[in-house]
Amino acid sequence: MSDAWVSSVRKLFPALARTFNDCPAVFLDGPAGTQVPEVVIQAISRYLRESNANLGGTFFTSCETVEWMRAAHQAVADFLGTDDPDTVAFGPNMTTLNFALSRAIARTWRKGDEIIVTRLEHDSNFTPWITAAREQGARVRYVDIHVEDCTLDLECLRSLLSDRTRLIAVGCASNATGTRNPIEAICQSAREVGALSVVDAVHFAPHERIDVRRFGCDFLLCSAYKFFGPHLGILWGRRQHLENITPYKLRPAPHALPGRWMTGTQSHEAIAGAKAAVDYLATLGGATLSCPEKDLSLSSADRRTALDAAFERIQSYESQLIWQMIDGLKSMPHVKLWGITDRARASERLPTVAVTLACLKPIEAARRLAAQGFCVWHGNYYALPLTERLGLEPDGMLRIGVVHYNTSEEVDRFLTAVEQLS
Ligand SMILES: Cc1ncc(COP(=O)(O)O)c(C=O)c1O
Repeated sequence: MSDAWVSSVRKLFPALARTFNDCPAVFLDGPAGTQVPEVVIQAISRYLRESNANLGGTFFTSCETVEWMRAAHQAVADFLGTDDPDTVAFGPNMTTLNFALSRAIARTWRKGDEIIVTRLEHDSNFTPWITAAREQGARVRYVDIHVEDCTLDLECLRSLLSDRTRLIAVGCASNATGTRNPIEAICQSAREVGALSVVDAVHFAPHERIDVRRFGCDFLLCSAYKFFGPHLGILWGRRQHLENITPYKLRPAPHALPGRWMTGTQSHEAIAGAKAAVDYLATLGGATLSCPEKDLSLSSADRRTALDAAFERIQSYESQLIWQMIDGLKSMPHVKLWGITDRARASERLPTVAVTLACLKPIEAARRLAAQGFCVWHGNYYALPLTERLGLEPDGMLRIGVVHYNTSEEVDRFLTAVEQLS
């Protein structure tokens, strides 16, 4: 990936031109939400300007809204690797969708049933399941981690599986340390004991290609605002589960797919924006859009091929940046890195790192960096099961996330700023 390519990409994101305190803004806060390209902003405003309406009316804006929604279901289906756009549901955010899903699935559990959650989760794929299990009298089993590299203890996971296991809730990757989990193997283990697998792909989505068929999961959740789109949650499930499990529904609401798992009026503008975010990513893989915000000419097959190419590019570019970051941080005696820091294990991590500093609490370091225009997070960012396990509450860690619009020069500037915190 050339510097020219990154500069051309950066021009598509209006926020990347911002400055703060006379310093160029450096957005290393992608794990908490990425910036959005102009095409996404245009899609949202175009929907609101031209077609704003509710679904189900006989008049033109309502009919156009149906078309916008249909195009978005298809684009997101392509993004997730499913042929069935009706199995994609939208909602306010991943957490709300997962509370709805967990409550609905839990109605099928009985006393003696068991579910498995891991200590590497964001709390949104942890607490909803624990709460639902408690309400049903099901038992919760916990997969521990290896503290030294913040990876899942897969032996522990294997030892917890049995014919009593009803469900495994697991993330593709940690939003704190960037640890990438062997998701296909975990979903396979779930299948072998007849358990459902619910995968949190929120942190994974901007970095690598999601493919629900390859993952072999039963449900997958993500959020468009982490992959260059607006604030919106996404749920995918296998058709048979979405049809057979009963969601909490109002009587007049659609009980058939794709509306079955969507509650209340949706943010149509955000859904339009999510489609534009997927198409933006497709352009990184060579797709050309005749009308970026509401393109109907990009076939599903072309979009998928372009997304494959885009994520190959993204992955190789981000990998260079994150190892530049890790190597730089590793050389500083006042910095402790949590998670995988060995280049030989690059395939086991995503471009997100968490550190603690000998001299400063994470919040104080984040404040000082913020004064120079660096956007980085402090605390637990809701990866509370992990920070509790590491004994890092209440201060947590400083988290630095790289996405494809960051540059090597930004990483250098950031490293210099961290050096000066010693
Ligand atoms: C890994 C992970 N899972 C789930 C969530 C929750 O997503 P949402 O904000 O859409 O509820 C987040 C948000 O930070 C996350 O990073």
